[in-house]
Amino acid sequence: MMFLRSQAAVFLLIAALTATGFVGSQGYVPAGGALAISCTLAVVLAWRLHDGRWWCLIHALFLPAVVVVHQLALPAWYFLGAAILLWLLSGSAIRDRVPLYFSGGGALQVLVERVPPNARLIDLGAGTGRVLAHLHRHRPDLQLSGIERSPLLWLLGRCSLPSAIDWRRGDLRRLDLSAFDCVYVFLSSEPMATVWEKVCSEMGEGGMLISNSFAVPDVRPDDVVDCGDWKGGKIMFWRIA
Ligand SMILES: C[S@@+](CC[C@H](N)C(=O)[O-])C[C@H]1O[C@@H](n2cnc3c(N)ncnc32)[C@H](O)[C@@H]1O
Repeated sequence: MMFLRSQAAVFLLIAALTATGFVGSQGYVPAGGALAISCTLAVVLAWRLHDGRWWCLIHALFLPAVVVVHQLALPAWYFLGAAILLWLLSGSAIRDRVPLYFSGGGALQVLVERVPPNARLIDLGAGTGRVLAHLHRHRPDLQLSGIERSPLLWLLGRCSLPSAIDWRRGDLRRLDLSAFDCVYVFLSSEPMATVWEKVCSEMGEGGMLISNSFAVPDVRPDDVVDCGDWKGGKIMFWRIA
């Protein structure tokens, strides 16, 4: 939402400058200059409004990408196809407020080293099952499960994961967690309070919640480990008392 607001603010400003004749072929600033101003402004807004500095790059590239795609004059069905693909990949992000991104190599290494021996672990919101595939290779003692809501990501996982991994499609909020000792999540800030409530009420004493990057509101983790990646990612551990 913040992304759209920032880009909309930039767009409205440039539209106003164009309407008043300040920008454009007859104005003080040529169209190319207007693009440079827009990108700079978007980067300044991103710097002020977003936490991760990588947002600046996304904001800087967004408008030039729109201009390039517009000039390619692609047929309309390309856009329809892209929209359908996006919806299949990440449509639930609108409702769940959890976009798709993958745990990095640093996070995977922390998991390999820190997940307790012989744990029954589930990845809630498992994407294509990348975390589970990695743990399957490097921690054969674990019993691994994953649940994913997006039909396309689930299908990719179904086709690529070994059959020893319990791979489910569905909503993590409806899953009973009592059969697991260890829950891994890499979601967003949005569902963390709900995840914590579920974990506390459904998992037995001694269970463990592991979250990549997103904290449980107002609950201090028992342990925090740096992933050593460029984003400054952290893996947080909570023991269920
Ligand atoms: C940031 S990705 C993490 C993928 C993977 N766990 C990893 O660490 O690489 C979050 C995933 O959670 C899924 N997701 C979001 N809300 C969900 C829900 N309510 N039920 C099941 N999956 C959900 C999204 O579709 C997305 O694939």
